[in-house]
Amino acid sequence: MLVNAKKMLMDAHNQKYAIAHFNINNLEWTRFILEECQKLNSPVILGVSEGAIHYMGGYHVVVSLVKSLINDLTITIPVALHLDHGSSVDSCKKAIDAGFTSVMIDASKYSLEENIRMTKEVVDYAHSREVTVEAEIGHIGGEEDGVADELAYAKVEDAISLAKETNIDFLAPALGSVHGIYKGEPKLDFERMKKINDALNIPLVLHGGSGIGDDLIRTAIQCGISKLNINTELQMAWNDAVRDFIESNQNVYDPRKVIKAGEMAMKKTIDHKLELLGSINKA
Ligand code: 13P
Repeated sequence: MLVNAKKMLMDAHNQKYAIAHFNINNLEWTRFILEECQKLNSPVILGVSEGAIHYMGGYHVVVSLVKSLINDLTITIPVALHLDHGSSVDSCKKAIDAGFTSVMIDASKYSLEENIRMTKEVVDYAHSREVTVEAEIGHIGGEEDGVADELAYAKVEDAISLAKETNIDFLAPALGSVHGIYKGEPKLDFERMKKINDALNIPLVLHGGSGIGDDLIRTAIQCGISKLNINTELQMAWNDAVRDFIESNQNVYDPRKVIKAGEMAMKKTIDHKLELLGSINKA
């Protein structure tokens, strides 16, 4: 069932668990994620970066792919299709027009005033079409789609201004997590996370969810995180399994067998994350 992310995230926020946002890259990834979340009866958010949208062929391809898999696999759990790090108002509008049910406008590299202006424009467009909106404050660093950038922690007062002036549905404050592989331990600022949560009382989003220890994630959920974004860990699980398969099956050339070799490793990672986040049987 394709829905926006409002109810699943408000339920998680009110009952202190979190919903997984898994990034998708192709048909097989989407299928493996949907099958496993359905098996465990967990709501899920399918995140798609602009790079992945371009790779798959465009906004409409992604929407058709997800809708068709939900239909043909008889997926009944709530599934939100979410634009990850929309870089412009135009990109968010394109995703909404194509049928995405949720979008992130990432105007975090601009001034607070410009971030508010762009986010508000997206919220006005999205809410009149029943689409949910996430925004970012501070700047989540690391590597996304091969581009490295710097982390800047969110200021509490900026987080409050952005959320209150735009009426967003959920907020991603940069609080020490980064995209991709961590160099050393992530330094999450739980005190600031709690302050932002107490002031706003809307679901908070933690990006860069790969490589953060289970105990830190449990603490983050207690401090207000209701959506955890995971990409790299699924990529690595798939990649390790596929490399092993190719090395020990040098004569196999059927792409279905090669791509499918990563299925069990991906599903094992998904199981662990859903258990950790507490979203099993919450569909
Ligand atoms: P990771 O690649 O570090 O898991 O981060 C994913 C993410 O935050 C997508 O927005």
